[in-house]
Amino acid sequence: MKIFLDTANLESIRKFNDMGLLDGITTNPSLMSKEGGNPKDAMEEITKIIKGDVSLEVVSTEYSGMMEEGKRLRQYGKNVVVKVPMTPDGLKACKSLSSEGIPVNVTLIFSANQALLAAKSGAKYVSPFIGRLDDVGQDGMKLIEDIKEIFENYPDFKTQILVASIRHPVHVVDAAKIGADVVTLPPAVLDKMLEHPLTKIGLENFLADWDKLKSQNPDIKI
Ligand code: E4P
Repeated sequence: MKIFLDTANLESIRKFNDMGLLDGITTNPSLMSKEGGNPKDAMEEITKIIKGDVSLEVVSTEYSGMMEEGKRLRQYGKNVVVKVPMTPDGLKACKSLSSEGIPVNVTLIFSANQALLAAKSGAKYVSPFIGRLDDVGQDGMKLIEDIKEIFENYPDFKTQILVASIRHPVHVVDAAKIGADVVTLPPAVLDKMLEHPLTKIGLENFLADWDKLKSQNPDIKI
């Protein structure tokens, strides 16, 4: 399963990329707005740091505007995936951009039918938002299971399931068990995945024991 980071924060992107954990990045207008500044600078920098797919989202809501923005976004790098919303115009733009060889991520997917239609339009990725479904009392992970089952029934679909709106590490384990292609994670979730209290305690004990040994042999080194 690929891991994308769901952020426009350069510090977090560099931090996790240096650990070799990142296969790509997803952004959206809210994440750009959270960072402030000129989004052009962020988009330029992110596409330089990350070699894998970087989803950059259009803000137009009609077809021609999406096409223009999609082509402009693509100028940031060959690894740019144009993110369009799950609307009739979004799917029309998805079809046109995909047929021109520009990969598309269809975002704001909340049902299996929407995922099916986005795949038919040629999307490289569909982004089902599981946390937002959980928030309104629906089972977000069940949607991932349904989409996975549908896509497996039709091997001609090459569309990848990019699990979005992830809230905690259990979502990640569940998505991996289902066999989702990609999870996109807020930096805080990736931080939590790195940690375990027994790792911390274990390391403290190793270092304390080493200190005891060192007090008897002050010159030892590893
Ligand atoms: C995905 O591409 C979206 O940017 C993101 O996962 C949305 O998550 P949220 O529901 O936490 O805003």
